[in-house]
Parts: sequence; C-alpha cells; structure tokens
Amino acid sequence: MEIQCLLLSLSGIFTLSVLADNPCKVREDLTADCSHLKLSTIPSNLPNNIKILDLSHNQLKQLPAANLTKYDQLVRLDVGFNTVHRFEPELCIYLPFLKVLNLQHNELVKISEKYFASCLQLTELYLNANGISSVNGNPFEKLENLLVLDMSHNKLTSTTLGNKQQLMNLEELYFSSNQVSVLSKEAFGFLGNTTLQKLDLSSNPLKEIQAGCFQAIRNFSILVMQKTQLNPHLTEQICSELAHTGINTLLLNEVHLLRITNTTFRGLADTDLKVLDISGNSLSEIDNNSFVFLQKLESLNLENNDISVLRSRAFNGLSEVQLLNLKKFFSPKGIKIDDQSFQWLKKLKNLNMEDNKMIPITEYTFIGLESLRNLSLSEATLKQQTITNKTFSSLSGSPLIHLNLSKTGVARLEHGAFSCLKHLQVLDLGLNQIDQEFFGHEFEGLANIETIYLSYNKRLTLTSNSFNFVPGLRKLNLRKTALTFLDPNPSPFTALQNLSVLDLGNNNIANIQEDVFKGLFNLKILNFQHNNLARLWKHANPGGPVLFLRGLNNLEILNLLSNGFDEMPPTAFKGLSNLRVLKLGENNVNILPAALFHDQTSLKVLDLHKNLVTTVEMEIFQNVFNSLEVLEMGGNPFDCTCESIAWFANWLNTTNASVPLVQSEYICNTPSRYHGISVANFDVSPCKEVAPFQFFAFTFTFTSTFIMLVLVIHFQGWRIQYYWTVSVNRVLGFKEIDPLHEHFEYDAYIIHAKQDNSWVEENLIPLEKDTACKLKFCYEERDFEAGISNLTAIVNSIKQSRKIIFVITLDFLNDPWCRRFKIHHAFQQAIEQSRDSIVLIFLEDIPDYRLNHTIHLRRGMFKSRCILDFPAQSERVNAFNQKLKIALGSTNLIK
Ligand SMILES: *[C@@H]1O[C@H](CO)[C@@H](O)[C@H](O)[C@H]1NC(C)=O
Ligand SMILES: *[C@@H]1O[C@H](CO)[C@@H](O)[C@H](O)[C@H]1NC(C)=O
Ligand SMILES: *[C@@H]1O[C@H](CO)[C@@H](O)[C@H](O)[C@H]1NC(C)=O
Ligand SMILES: *[C@@H]1O[C@H](CO)[C@@H](O)[C@H](O)[C@H]1NC(C)=O
Ligand SMILES: *[C@@H]1O[C@H](CO)[C@@H](O)[C@H](O)[C@H]1NC(C)=O
Ligand SMILES: *[C@@H]1O[C@H](CO)[C@@H](O)[C@H](O)[C@H]1NC(C)=O
Ligand SMILES: *[C@@H]1O[C@H](CO)[C@@H](O)[C@H](O)[C@H]1NC(C)=O
Ligand SMILES: *[C@@H]1O[C@H](CO)[C@@H](O)[C@H](O)[C@H]1NC(C)=O
Ligand SMILES: *[C@@H]1O[C@H](CO)[C@@H](O)[C@H](O)[C@H]1NC(C)=O
Repeated sequence: MEIQCLLLSLSGIFTLSVLADNPCKVREDLTADCSHLKLSTIPSNLPNNIKILDLSHNQLKQLPAANLTKYDQLVRLDVGFNTVHRFEPELCIYLPFLKVLNLQHNELVKISEKYFASCLQLTELYLNANGISSVNGNPFEKLENLLVLDMSHNKLTSTTLGNKQQLMNLEELYFSSNQVSVLSKEAFGFLGNTTLQKLDLSSNPLKEIQAGCFQAIRNFSILVMQKTQLNPHLTEQICSELAHTGINTLLLNEVHLLRITNTTFRGLADTDLKVLDISGNSLSEIDNNSFVFLQKLESLNLENNDISVLRSRAFNGLSEVQLLNLKKFFSPKGIKIDDQSFQWLKKLKNLNMEDNKMIPITEYTFIGLESLRNLSLSEATLKQQTITNKTFSSLSGSPLIHLNLSKTGVARLEHGAFSCLKHLQVLDLGLNQIDQEFFGHEFEGLANIETIYLSYNKRLTLTSNSFNFVPGLRKLNLRKTALTFLDPNPSPFTALQNLSVLDLGNNNIANIQEDVFKGLFNLKILNFQHNNLARLWKHANPGGPVLFLRGLNNLEILNLLSNGFDEMPPTAFKGLSNLRVLKLGENNVNILPAALFHDQTSLKVLDLHKNLVTTVEMEIFQNVFNSLEVLEMGGNPFDCTCESIAWFANWLNTTNASVPLVQSEYICNTPSRYHGISVANFDVSPCKEVAPFQFFAFTFTFTSTFIMLVLVIHFQGWRIQYYWTVSVNRVLGFKEIDPLHEHFEYDAYIIHAKQDNSWVEENLIPLEKDTACKLKFCYEERDFEAGISNLTAIVNSIKQSRKIIFVITLDFLNDPWCRRFKIHHAFQQAIEQSRDSIVLIFLEDIPDYRLNHTIHLRRGMFKSRCILDFPAQSERVNAFNQKLKIALGSTNLIK
C-alpha cells in the first residue's frame, strides 16, 4: 500500500515536471502552439482535449498515428515545414474529427492511394511544396467532404489527379507553380460535376490549351492565371475556352500580355465576366473596340502598364464598369489621351489615375463620365501646374464627390478652378507646390464642399475672404503651409460656422488675434501643434494673455504640442468642458495655475510630456485626472518630495488609467537622493507619518527657542548671520552648480543710476579682486567703449551675464534711462529664461509702494537672499559682501 502511494506520488511528480518542461503554448481555446521548437517527437504531455495542434516549423521526420491517438478531439493539425516523408492512413481513423490537415513543405514525394482513404471528414488538405511529381491512381477519391485542395509548388506536369470522377464537394483547387505545360481536354475530367468555384493555375509554363479543357468544370467562376507567360494567342485561346463557362473573375496579371486587340477577349462574349485584372503586363497598346465583348464587366484593373496612346474607342463597350484602375497605366515616356476616351464608361464611379507622369488634361478628356464619384490623380503630375476654370470643365456633367489632387505638382489655383464641380465634397490638394494668396474666388462654385485638404504646400496666405464661397466647410487642413494672414481682421475662419476640424499645425505662427476662431461653435478638433504661440500666453504680453480658445465650447481634441509655452493663463481652457484630448507636450511649462483644468471634467487623454513640470499637486490635477484614460507626462523633471509628488505617486499606483512608460519616463530629478528613480517607486508611506510629528517638533522647538532668539538677534543678529554664511560657504563653496551648464561671459551685469557710479566703484568692483570667488562684473562705465552705451550692446551684455544687479536708490527710481529700457529688458530676459537672475541692492530705505509704483517691482517677488540692504555701519560691510557673493553664486533655476 505504502509503496503504491509512493509510486503514485512519484508518477505525479514526474508528470508535473514534464508538464512544466513542456515548451508548447496552450491557450484557453484548446489550441496548442508547438511551432518553431526544433521538436523531433510529438509532445505527449499536452491536454487530451485540444482541438488545434500546431507542429509546424519543427524537425519531425515521421508522423506516427499512434503518437497522436490521445489527441482524438483534434479538428485542425498543422505539420507544415517539417521533413515528414510518409503518412499513416490510420491517422484519420484515430482522429475522427480532423477537418483541416496541413502537410505543406514536407517530403511526401509520392502520394499513395492508401494515405487519405479514411479521411472522409477532411475539408481542407494542404500538400503544397512536397516535391510531388506525379499522382498515381485515385488517392483523393474518398475525400468526399473536401472543400480546399492545395497542390501548388510541386513538380506536377498534369492537373489530372485521378482517373474517375471524385471530390464532389471541392470548391477551391490550387495548382500554381507546377510544371503544367499542356491543358488537355481531360485535364479536369476527374472534377466533372463537382462544385468547383476557384481554380488557380498561376506560374505554370503553359504552352498549349486544348479545346474543351474547362468543360468538365464549366460551372467554376474564378480563374487565376498570374505570372504565366501568355502571348496574345494563348490569351485569346484561354478566353475562347472560357466561353460557355460560369467565369466571373479572371486574373491575368503579369502574364506578359503586350497588346490587346479587338479579338483578345472575343471568347468571353457570352460569359458574365464581372472582374478582369490585366495589371502588370507592360501593355503598350489597346486597340479600338478591345473590350466590346465585356458588356457585363464591372471592375477592370489595368494598373502598371505602359500605354502611350489611349485611343478614343479603346474603352468602347465597357458600359457597366464601375471601377477602373489606371494607376501607373501610362508610359512614363509621354502620354496622349484622345478626347472623349472615357465617354463609354457611363456607369463608372471610381477612376484611379494615380501615379502617372505628365497627364495632359483637356476640356474634353473626361466628357461622358456621367456617374463618376471618385477621381484620384494623386501622384500623377499634371501637365499644367496651374488649375484654371478649364482644367476640370470636362467633369461638369459628373456627380463628382471626391477629387484627389495630392502630390500632383499643382502650383496655383486660378479663379473658378473648381467651379464646375458643384457636387464635390472632398478636395485633396495636399503635398503640392501651391504658393499664393487666397482671395476667395479660387473655391468659387464648390457649393457642397465639406473637406479641403491643403496641408503641405509651399506658402499660403489667407485673407478675410479666403473661404467666403465655401461656408459649409467642415474640415480644413492647413498644416505646414508657411501660413500667414494678410489681413487678420476679420479672421478668414469667421465664415466657416460649420467647421469641425481645423489643422494649423507646423506653421510657425507667432501672432494671432484673440478672436481668430470667433464663431466656430462647431469646432471639435483643433490642431495647433508646432507653432510659436508662447508669447500669446505670457502674462507680460502687452495687453495681457491672448485667450484665443475662448468660445470654442464644443472642442473635443486640442493639440498644442511644441509651441514653446512656458506660461499658461489660468483661464486658457475655460469653458472647454467637452475636451476629451488635450496635448500640451514638448513645451516649457513649469508651474500650472491652480484653476487651469477647472472645466476639463471629462478629459480622456492628457499629454504633458517633456515639459518642466516638477510638482503634480492634487489641487491642480485631481479634477482632470478623475475621468482620465490615458496620461502622458513622462520626461518632466519631477521633484520627488512629499509635498510635490506624494499625491501623484499614489495616484499612479492606484489609477486605472493607462500611463505608458510609467517606469522608464517618470523619473525623479530632485532631490538628489531620489535622482534617477522612477516616480512610481517613490515611497509615500513616510509622508503620511511625518506630517504630525513635524508639526509637534516644530511647535515645541519654536516656543522654546523663540524668546532666546529674539533677544540674541536683537543685539547681535547681523553678526550671527555673517558667521553663518561664512561657515556655510566654507563647506559648500560659493557657486551652486547650474544644472544647465550654461556659459556666461560675466557673473553679473550692474544696473545703476549715474549718481551711484562712485558707490559701485568703491563697493562692488573691488570684489573682483577676491580670488576666492573670481567674480567678473559687466560695468558699463568701464567695459563699454568710451562709456557709450548703445542699445544692442546693453542687450548683448545682459544676455551674457549670469545675474543682473539693480543698485536701488531714489536716483535709480528717478532715472528714466534705467527705468524704461534697462529694467524692462532685464525683466524680459529673466522671464524668457524662467530665471531667478535678479539681485536687488538697496542703498537707501525705499518703501515697497514706491518700488511698485516706479519700476513695478515688489520685494515679495524675489527670494530673500536676492534682496540685500547695504549697511550703514562699516563693520557690517563684510557680512554684506558675503551675502552678495552667495546671491551671485546661487543657481538661476527657479526652484
Ligand atoms: C512516438 O512515441 C514513441 C513511444 O512513446 C516514441 O519513442 C517516439 O519517439 C515517438 N515518435 C514521435 C515522432 O513522436
Ligand atoms: C455529370 O453527371 C451526369 C449525370 O448526373 C452525367 O451524365 C455526366 O456524364 C457527368 N459528367 C461528367 C463530366 O462526368
Ligand atoms: C452548374 O450550375 C447549374 C446551376 O447553378 C446547375 O444546374 C448545373 O447542374 C451545374 N452543373 C454542373 C456540371 O455542376
Ligand atoms: C478588328 O480590327 C480590325 C482592324 O484592326 C478590323 O478590320 C475589324 O473589323 C475589327 N473587328 C471588330 C469586331 O471590331
Ligand atoms: C480608333 O477609333 C478612332 C475613332 O473611331 C479613329 O479615329 C482611330 O483612327 C482609330 N484608331 C485605330 C488605330 O484604329
Ligand atoms: C470614393 O473613395 C473614397 C475614399 O477613397 C471611398 O471611401 C468611397 O467609398 C469611394 N466612393 C465610391 C462611390 O466608390
Ligand atoms: C474662365 O476664366 C476666364 C478668364 O480667366 C473667363 O473669361 C471665362 O468666362 C471663365 N469661364 C467660365 C466657364 O467661368
Ligand atoms: C489621396 O490619395 C492619397 C494617395 O493614395 C491618399 O493617401 C490620400 O488619403 C487621399 N486623400 C483623400 C482625401 O482620400
Ligand atoms: C502600490 O500599492 C500596493 C497595494 O495596492 C502597495 O503594496 C505598494 O506598496 C504601493 N506602491 C507604492 C510605490 O506606493
């Protein structure tokens, strides 16, 4: 008993370990994928009830039926790409439900009559690429349910697979890439009275077609004969043999048919042929009346041929054709199209003339195309680069809806260029060379137009009237067109009340009016990426930020990627409550105003990647993150402190939204001990515990030391400060490391009133001699030529200075030169670079209101270490100097 138990458990362990070793992938739908595993035996440890077993691309030499008996539920067995050279007839007995058997790319050179004798239930059998050179007897006789038989890529010289009628239910027979050179009268006799639909005879060296060869299978409907060398005579013969058959689709592509005459398709006259493919044939001529026999044809593919003259009667008879493919149809050496060549195609709906060179279009070219809906000339260079009111006048009788003129080399649209196309809804003029001003008449007559695609053109200039004739426009694409506005008032878009998509991306637009989109109540998608809109949203912008999105209350997708934005007005997105996708990535945004996303309660996608965002605070983001499905915020310099990031780290850990690249792109930048780690790994637990303790510690320390401090500071405060700063700098050195590693010519530029020259010379300039910190000032009186300060020199010097020192006295406030220009410019730069680069030195006691009144500054705008008071007592000057050095050495980055 015990031994039995032991054996049982041993065998259990054994099975388990084998199962664990099993390299096949078994999926829930009972599919076992054992392909590409270099197997030389059939795995014996798969679940017994699998329905699909893929053993392809292995090293099986045999397929022993016994090894498969346990998988008796198999419906599909794929043994392709092995080296099996024998097939055991028992297999079909052991696998009674097998329907699909794939034996392609093996070595079953000889097909024995016994092989498939028991495979009654099989519906698909693949024997392609086995090197089979002949079939003796009737090996497929018993396959009564077979629908698909693939014998392609073998070495068969005859299509005859048996000497009596069989395969009653066969629908598709693949015979391509064999050695069949003669289609004899008996070729398909074994398929007599079957339901064959599709026959593929591609890539056979056909030389002879005997009369009656298709008669046994005359109900078939699809004949594929690609890549076979057929001369015009053989082609004509094939068509004759197809007479009185059910042929519906005939593929004769790449058969070296060089010429079509009025007899080529004569044999098809009494058929119902609907689809004919004669593409890729280097056809150089189509005679008049070549297609008169194809009265029922609906689709004709003539792509990739070499026609130099399209004769006026070439398409005669194609009265039912709806789809005509003339892509790359013409010879690149030169084209002539007889006038009215298309007049026969009364039912043609789709005409593809893409990718032809130098198409000559006259006033008569397209006459008679009474049903044409789609015309594509994409990548077809037009002979005339200017579109006039004559170019498409031959289409005036067509109900054309879709005209594709992309990549056609169009350079100019004249007045009324499309005036005949009253039904046109979509006009694609993208990727051209158009270089012009639009005054409106270019689009005159396009009464039903909905989409105009003008993206990727050379240079477009809009006027107030550009779209006056197309007020129904819904989509307007103007991406990368070097777009400018000739007269911005009123906006060219004002006429487009129905507009729902507007693409203005990649135009380098820097200036627009606040009301540029006024009245576009229906706008849903606005693409404004890769422009230069940063200035418009600066609060320092004269007249305040330009809120150009105001009123676009139905906007759903807004793309403002890469615009240089470093400031966002709090009301930038106010009212955009339907916004679903907002892309603000690749800008320079650091601080987001608290109310910024106030109205975005149903946002699904927010993209803020590659900005300068350091903190992700609940107050700003909670509301917008609520409904979010995708967040893209990687590549920001996150500050991983409790205050800045704890809430976000927690959100990342708990959200259901998708945050792509959360581990690799959301990286802490500061503080240094977290530098380089992923925000998602930021440990938030200490943040929760620390807060109450901190508060206690703070209150205790505060109360117990306050009184003492007050006393000490009162008497010796400056001295304490002095020693403190000195000792700090002994340890840390003067200059903080500037992470941007920018190089500046000067450490500081000094702005001061004339009257304070002597103070500067006595108190600041001597600091340059201090070897410990190696300061270098830019001092106009000394560093500018003969003391002459011209504007450019000042601007340049300010740019080349790391810091800017304001020496503030009453004289300074009254000096107009200082006030108007220099201060303004210094600020401009500080703002542009988002830099904390200004240091104020007060020589006199100046009240804050005066500062604000005269130079629009408040002390509160600066860090305390950047505001220095020059002491009246000489023994405190050393302390002052020390503080100044720190202020000058501190980093410019706003922290
Ligand atoms: C079939 O099973 C036998 C016995 O288990 C085994 O020796 C043989 O290798 C198997 N053959 C294949 C091709 O799997
Ligand atoms: C098709 O079947 C009919 C009888 O149903 C028979 O007379 C005829 O010979 C068969 N055709 C061929 C080609 O076997
Ligand atoms: C061909 O199809 C027609 C109707 O579709 C049918 O009546 C006829 O018997 C079929 N002939 C053969 C040989 O299958
Ligand atoms: C075919 O073209 C030849 C001249 O190339 C002409 O003589 C003949 O009448 C045409 N046949 C038909 C059916 O159009
Ligand atoms: C084709 O037909 C047109 C119009 O009937 C005729 O002018 C032209 O000569 C014909 N071309 C050829 C090669 O038969
Ligand atoms: C015209 O072309 C467009 C796009 O290429 C396609 O969606 C549409 O179905 C076509 N119209 C017709 C009538 O074939
Ligand atoms: C086409 O434009 C020309 C001037 O460029 C004008 O004289 C002519 O009337 C216009 N034709 C139509 C049909 O509008
Ligand atoms: C115009 O044709 C080009 C090339 O086939 C295609 O990429 C583009 O989408 C088409 N334009 C329209 C509006 O369908
Ligand atoms: C994320 O949440 C899981 C539990 O939901 C917790 O075990 C884990 O520590 C959290 N990780 C972080 C980084 O907060």
